[in-house]
Amino acid sequence: MKTSQSIRSYRLGDRVVGRLGFGAMQLAGPGVFGPPRDRAAALAVLRAAVEGGVNHIDTSDFYGPHVTNQIVREALHPYRDDLVITTKVGARRGADGAWLPAMLQAELTTAVHDNLRNLGLDVLEVVNLRSMLGTHGPEEGSLEAPLAALAELQQQGLIRHIGLSNVTARQIEDGRRLCTIACVQNMYNLAHRDDDALVDSMAAVGIPYVPFFPLGGFSPLQSKTLDQVAAEVGVTPMQAALAWLLQRSPNILLIPGTSSVAHLHQNLAAGDVRLSEDAVTRLDAIGSGDVVRR
Ligand SMILES: NC(=O)c1ccc[n+]([C@@H]2O[C@H](COP(=O)([O-])OP(=O)(O)OC[C@H]3O[C@@H](n4cnc5c(N)ncnc54)[C@H](OP(=O)(O)O)[C@@H]3O)[C@@H](O)[C@H]2O)c1
Repeated sequence: MKTSQSIRSYRLGDRVVGRLGFGAMQLAGPGVFGPPRDRAAALAVLRAAVEGGVNHIDTSDFYGPHVTNQIVREALHPYRDDLVITTKVGARRGADGAWLPAMLQAELTTAVHDNLRNLGLDVLEVVNLRSMLGTHGPEEGSLEAPLAALAELQQQGLIRHIGLSNVTARQIEDGRRLCTIACVQNMYNLAHRDDDALVDSMAAVGIPYVPFFPLGGFSPLQSKTLDQVAAEVGVTPMQAALAWLLQRSPNILLIPGTSSVAHLHQNLAAGDVRLSEDAVTRLDAIGSGDVVRR
């Protein structure tokens, strides 16, 4: 029988992507604002990702802003036919780097055109509406107007597939009545398990669940149990955290972010890590409070 871990690819829109993708947010400057300290290193990470088999990259024009997409374009354009670039709209950056809502029709239209121009594309494969109703987590409220705006841009041929990010189960349900939802991107990792039920319900209907902050985000996960399990398996704690996600459910697509080629290679190698039932049980317990954040 195939385990979740041994399933290496999953349908995203009408494409099939490897479950180990790459999140490009770490390639902008500090605070995801401005240029990176080392642009050549950022280009090298992206090229190493694609050479290492990654065919799903997550980005946004509000990283930098514009900077990350421009780096993606410089590193990888013309893009390989099998590469799926997922982007997101719904936010903009203030002059001080603040994350501000930008979910009005005109703002979404501008964002889609910014993404097209900076990525050098005629059509965006997947565009996630990143709900800004809640900045630090999903908050209930209608997303009908911004989704309708994206659906219109889809009809104009500028977007192939629409996804949702930072959303509740109800918002996904409502959204699915308005348009086909290709994927859901919410915060989820070993320690942050609010979406356990949502992961399963998305799996049941074949929608990819793409956890952001799979390694804990800006303060990577720290846990004694994670360290112990990783040492027993002979991998790094971050590899064990990614392997746990791969084993959690076959519809989970990973987009760990890194600015380091060495970390990228470690993350890709997590695809070959097998966790025993006992290891999974011990890692599961982390969700109930064994983690320290820096
Ligand atoms: N929809 C949303 O609202 C939203 C929000 C946040 C992020 N995202 C997306 O999700 C992606 C992933 O999130 P993320 O990059 O913020 O967080 P993450 O993948 O959980 O973790 C990134 C952090 O982990 C470190 N790291 C990565 N690989 C490592 C390894 N093998 N060993 C040790 N440390 C490692 C990175 O530092 P180094 O650079 O030093 O490796 C960085 O500090 C982003 O790139 C972005 O595309 C979406």
